[in-house]
Amino acid sequence: MRGRLITFEGIDGCGKSTQLHLLAQRLQGLGFPVRCFREPGGTELSERIRALLLDAAYEIVAEAELLLFAAARAQLVRVQLQPALRRGEIVLCDRFADSTTAYQGYGRGLPLELVQACNRLATDGLQPDVTVLLELPVALALQRSGRGDRMEQGALEFFERVREGYLELARQEPERILVIDAQGSPEAVHERIWRELRARFGWE
Ligand SMILES: Nc1ncnc2c1ncn2[C@@H]1O[C@H](COP(=O)(O)OP(=O)(O)O)[C@@H](O)[C@H]1O
Ligand SMILES: [Mg+2]
Repeated sequence: MRGRLITFEGIDGCGKSTQLHLLAQRLQGLGFPVRCFREPGGTELSERIRALLLDAAYEIVAEAELLLFAAARAQLVRVQLQPALRRGEIVLCDRFADSTTAYQGYGRGLPLELVQACNRLATDGLQPDVTVLLELPVALALQRSGRGDRMEQGALEFFERVREGYLELARQEPERILVIDAQGSPEAVHERIWRELRARFGWE
């Protein structure tokens, strides 16, 4: 039996980690085998790449950033995600390949066909069964993550491009990408997600 891969996407502060946690709790409560991962991360190598990406000592050029995210993902997919899915587990992932398309492609402006080729290599063709795209205005997301008041115009425009990029992906793949209104309480957003997933997978 093959498991399910569910990914969470959206701009920083939209509520991905919060919602992943709430969904994991709900599924575990129903007795499903659940594994949670975050990107970049989830293997020792991928976590070390994450630390490099977050290290303020480096100004990482867009192309290097693309390849570092891809390297972390290539390892995660083969060492963790594919085996868990083969075991029939429900795998929840905080960000996945759509983040790269949205941030490095639409946000940083790298050629989309190159970004997508990179994603295909990194994911080994693995596609999420469902992607939950948490949709929230940039200003609200920055407020939630406590960065609302010290964001430069250039950074605001970057996040706006990322948000628009995600919405474009959702238009291209409406079957896979569920656009969920991320406004309201965490519990209200969770209920929106749960209603959609329960119907899709027949979970009770
Ligand atoms: N629905 C919500 N309403 C208000 N605050 C929220 C909501 N969901 C998450 N938060 C808070 O907003 C911040 C960002 O949420 P988080 O889940 O970490 O977002 P992300 O993982 O997408 O960056 C956290 O402090 C979190 O507690
Ligand atoms: Mg998070």
